[in-house]
Amino acid sequence: MHDANRDKLIVALDLPDATKARAMIERLGDAVTFYKIGMELAYGGGFALVDELARAGKHIFLDLKLHDIGHTVEKATAQIARLGVRFVTVHAFPQTLAAAARGARGSALQVLGVTVMTSYDDSDLVTAGYRLNVRELVALRARQAKEAGIAGLILSPEELKATRALVGADLLLVTPGVRPAGAALDDQKRVATPSDALKRGANHLVVGRPIISAPDPHAAALAIQKEIAEVCA
Ligand code: C5P
Repeated sequence: MHDANRDKLIVALDLPDATKARAMIERLGDAVTFYKIGMELAYGGGFALVDELARAGKHIFLDLKLHDIGHTVEKATAQIARLGVRFVTVHAFPQTLAAAARGARGSALQVLGVTVMTSYDDSDLVTAGYRLNVRELVALRARQAKEAGIAGLILSPEELKATRALVGADLLLVTPGVRPAGAALDDQKRVATPSDALKRGANHLVVGRPIISAPDPHAAALAIQKEIAEVCA
């Protein structure tokens, strides 16, 4: 049922509660094999969906962006691994990366590091007390994520090429900010089409509103799957 190309599309279930999310999963049917549950849905009853999705044979990405003392991150990651989830995010700080890698060890859970939030620019980093600009901090954290032995990184389409060159083929690169040609940008500023993101080195594309807010979400998902299948043929 899972084919590697179909699993490249991850649909962000950015919906307020599990009832609305269930209805969307039903509409999307076989067009989607991989779902992302973020903080809004997780804290709105979304954890109940994890088991349902797993039983339906879907992959799950829990986008919880963990960050705490190492002991807590390790224990939380181990709990998440027991839920049968495939991806979880953590902020890419060295202690957090190492702790999450320990927590996921021996399980099928893959840890993804969030390098620098895409809502931050260079001046936000100065205000927060950093000496590096965004590009330098992304590169540093990508190297540290690789050293920690986690599975991959979350990056904007803009950072894909340079990061792929830096980390080689070892890490999964997962990118939001994907917009089919002609689609509304919403509040995304640095976007790429599905084909461009894949050509720049992405392994998985996270797509929310272009699918879940489309008049026909099933058709919108199938159109992206077709584009992925053509690029990855
Ligand atoms: O609706 P849209 O396709 O813009 O959704 C993208 C998804 O990726 C959302 O769940 C959003 O929170 C997430 N995301 C993002 N940019 C980041 C990290 C996560 O858009 N830097």
